[in-house]
Amino acid sequence: MDMSRIGIIGAMELEVEELKSHMTDMKVTSRAGMDFCEGTINGAQVVIVRSGVGKVNAALCVQILADLFQVTQIINTGVAGSLNSKLEIGDIVISKDAVHHDMDATAVGYKPGIVPQMAESYFKADENLIELAKRVCQKVNPDIHVLVGRVASGDQFITDKEVKNRLIATFQADCVEMEGASIAHGCYLNQIPFVILRAISDKADDSGNYDYQIDYPTFEKAAAKHCAQLVEKLVVDLASSI
Ligand code: ADE
Repeated sequence: MDMSRIGIIGAMELEVEELKSHMTDMKVTSRAGMDFCEGTINGAQVVIVRSGVGKVNAALCVQILADLFQVTQIINTGVAGSLNSKLEIGDIVISKDAVHHDMDATAVGYKPGIVPQMAESYFKADENLIELAKRVCQKVNPDIHVLVGRVASGDQFITDKEVKNRLIATFQADCVEMEGASIAHGCYLNQIPFVILRAISDKADDSGNYDYQIDYPTFEKAAAKHCAQLVEKLVVDLASSI
């Protein structure tokens, strides 16, 4: 019997509402201001939750999924800014690994992003989940560009070209967002396999005619929906592959 129970985290309601609308037998448990929605999607057992934005919210969310719900895998869905010139708005990044770009103990001899006294700071996503995610993306929409790459996370929304270039040079990251590394870090500590799936909503700089006040909400909505559709298919494939 399949005993998997998949935790799905989105930072914003936008990122989880689509998935929640496909759930059956939903039971809601509230902890730390978050609603954990237990139920099934096409027979797969899931717990879907909106963590809120940023690394603290995301880390707390992972710990609750681990302790209270004993999830067997975690998938993070959402949007991200592109750090790779090959990634256009609407493209998908599947995490190879994730790093905290705002972890900075360089003053005491550590490289940027390295968490002092930890064995790992580039938290690796689960190979099996990466492969499944790749296959699902290919199946759902073979025309969409998918890249397996590095996610850099920090408690900052990046729109400045110089900051963007520093993140590329320092971390060789492919996209930037505000939760992934924290989820990855929490999964590493709790030994939970994870993958981050992000749709590109912006270029994380001030290039082109992109207006963050006007354009971002539109692209965010489309990208978040797109990503959620992929996660829904991934969950079903994952549950039937175990
Ligand atoms: N999420 C989506 N775009 C982002 C950006 N440019 N910086 C941080 N998080 C993001």
